[in-house]
Amino acid sequence: MVGNQVTNLRALVTGGCGFIGSHLVKALVADSNFLTIVNVDALTYSGHPENCSDIDNVRYKFKHQSINDRPSFENTLREENISIIFHLAAESHVDRSIHSIKPFISTNVDGTRVILESILALRKEGQEISLVHVSTDEVYGSLGPNDPPFTELTPVNPLNPYAATKAASDFLVKSFVNTFNISAVITRCSNNYGPNQFPEKLVPLMILKTRLGEKLPIYGDGKNVRDWIHVTDHVGGIVSSANALVSGKLTSGEVINFGGENEKTNLEIVRNIVEKIGASDNLIEFVPDRPGHDKRYAIDISKAKKLLKWSPKMNWDNGIIETILWYKSNDKWVASITSGEYKNWIRKQYGDTK
Ligand code: NAD
Ligand code: TYD
Repeated sequence: MVGNQVTNLRALVTGGCGFIGSHLVKALVADSNFLTIVNVDALTYSGHPENCSDIDNVRYKFKHQSINDRPSFENTLREENISIIFHLAAESHVDRSIHSIKPFISTNVDGTRVILESILALRKEGQEISLVHVSTDEVYGSLGPNDPPFTELTPVNPLNPYAATKAASDFLVKSFVNTFNISAVITRCSNNYGPNQFPEKLVPLMILKTRLGEKLPIYGDGKNVRDWIHVTDHVGGIVSSANALVSGKLTSGEVINFGGENEKTNLEIVRNIVEKIGASDNLIEFVPDRPGHDKRYAIDISKAKKLLKWSPKMNWDNGIIETILWYKSNDKWVASITSGEYKNWIRKQYGDTK
């Protein structure tokens, strides 16, 4: 160990071709404390090899595998002598979970079960593996306008199917810490934005639609509040949590919240994007509300600040301009992922687009 940094870690990232996972993989490749970085991804609709195609490093390896395939997952842990898993693979979109919950239970709950059982199986062979379980503030439920932000002690109270499956996976991890004494930390972060986010989530969807001059669908009255954090700040928090867990600064089973201290209504977000692109507010269209739409998320990050000396660095104005510019200069990426599945999804949601 050098200072608070643990060295010679052999990392496996699940979901490393997704939005947050690809930023994490790049951060780990740039961090010499990590000897190996293995990216296990099933390449579902939101996972794209292009997100990692610029990584050219002998310490990095991609495995096209599902976390639900336990024999393959265990083989990878064994062959690569993995010492820490960053678990991000998930079905991640609330609207999809409202349409069909089955894949959410399969990946988010059963996939996490496979990871936990694999850790126990490898322990029997003498290989100890720590786990950073990447979860979400959505497990805490919804706040009223004057409620204090979620802390790590806020009761878990998921209110949509996606959040329920993430909460279930958090509880599974906690139960394995308590029952089998595995080494794990659970991170809960607010809404991320930044480059490489699949354009079904609010920010990239609105950027792309504004650029195309399409209507901008805002659910309900647009007054729902989210806390927005740039993806690189979240990734910094995930890596700090890993170091704190492995160095013993965090006790196994602890939860740690991350957020951007940046609460905004959806209407503010969309107006801001439209203004920065230089388009007209007339594109905004209020559409029927999402069923069971959580009113407000806000997150208290005092614990991360105190324990990890972590705080978000990217402010919204700079972050959103950088993100808009990234989508503008990556039309090829957008074109490659906006074929097929994405178009069908948009068509089902909002009717035919241009
Ligand atoms: P994403 O949808 O962009 O990426 C998910 C990745 O997981 C994809 O690459 C996909 O191919 C992969 N995947 C799905 N099923 C798999 C399986 N069975 N086996 C292997 N890989 C599989 O999601 P994201 O926004 O990057 O979120 C990553 C994690 O962070 C999720 O666990 C999510 O719950 C959590 N999180 C996201 C946010 C956010 O704002 N996006 C906020 C807090 C926490
Ligand atoms: P989203 O990006 O789906 O993240 P989450 O549901 O995990 O917070 O949505 C962010 C907010 O934006 C949420 O309150 C729903 C709202 N929203 C819209 O108003 N219109 C849209 O087209 C989308 C995708 C989301």
